[in-house]
Amino acid sequence: MTPGTIEAIRDWKERRRAVILAHNYQRPEVQDIGDFVGDSLELSRRAAEVDAEVIVFCGVHFMAETAAIISPGKTVLLPDPAAGCPMADMITAAALTTKKDEHPGVPVVCYVNSSAAVKALSDICCTSSNALAVVESLPGDEVLFVPDYNLGHWVATRTTKRVILWDGFCPTHVWIRPADVERMVEEHPEAVVMVHPECSPDVVAVADEVLSTGRMLQAAKTSPAQEFIVGTEMGILHRLERENPGKAFFHLSGHAVCPNMKKITLEKVLKALETMAPRVRVDEPEASAARRALDRMLAVR
Ligand code: 13P
Ligand code: SF4
Repeated sequence: MTPGTIEAIRDWKERRRAVILAHNYQRPEVQDIGDFVGDSLELSRRAAEVDAEVIVFCGVHFMAETAAIISPGKTVLLPDPAAGCPMADMITAAALTTKKDEHPGVPVVCYVNSSAAVKALSDICCTSSNALAVVESLPGDEVLFVPDYNLGHWVATRTTKRVILWDGFCPTHVWIRPADVERMVEEHPEAVVMVHPECSPDVVAVADEVLSTGRMLQAAKTSPAQEFIVGTEMGILHRLERENPGKAFFHLSGHAVCPNMKKITLEKVLKALETMAPRVRVDEPEASAARRALDRMLAVR
């Protein structure tokens, strides 16, 4: 990092009346310059409420797009336009339309890890921290859940509704295998095993807790346990360790790193503030239709 980058970011942030929102998987130094660091749901709420003209979104494209949909009056910048999410690319609007035709009348629950076009065709969005509550909030006894198979499968084990699944997945979380959990539990038998619901069902089955990144951070603080085995993207360890000095955190797999989340660097944040680009926009009528699905999610408590 060039000396002075952090000071320059602070300076430009003030000039632009900007806030920096950062996801829990961002590089440690990017999290550290965030005005707010959180999980997908917390960041969506923050984007809706924050009093600023510009949001610099340190995360992946669907997150910045969500912020742009929720806050149409603000300029949303994504410091690297190539920071995508392979799971979000595993469903298209055309493929969802075909699936909806096969299941007429069945409400569509769409994980926020999806494009605006897919959200626009969905009844309601969800994140990993409210997926079960969202599914339970719907009338009827069936839902179509897209695009994450593993999150949908986890919800299906907790609801009486029939959950029709899509076959999307997170390439980062599926690196984590039950053998990693077994090995780590053998080394740290007292530790609580907490994994993200994007992990595969055989990993979820051997975990103590299945939690979003935000809920992992809460659990680490409030639990009397002193040791935790963590099954999600590596970036979460920065906050877990900083916010819980004295507690120990063991990451399940060195492979569980999201290359897209790591594309955001301090230099790119600075450049985005200087140039006011790359900007993420969503056009009408797609934006309004996607906003309806996001607003419905935000109303579920
Ligand atoms: P959280 O909503 O738990 O932060 O999960 C996000 C995620 O998978 C981002 O890719
Ligand atoms: Fe997408 Fe997985 Fe990366 Fe999250 S961790 S952005 S789901 S690829």
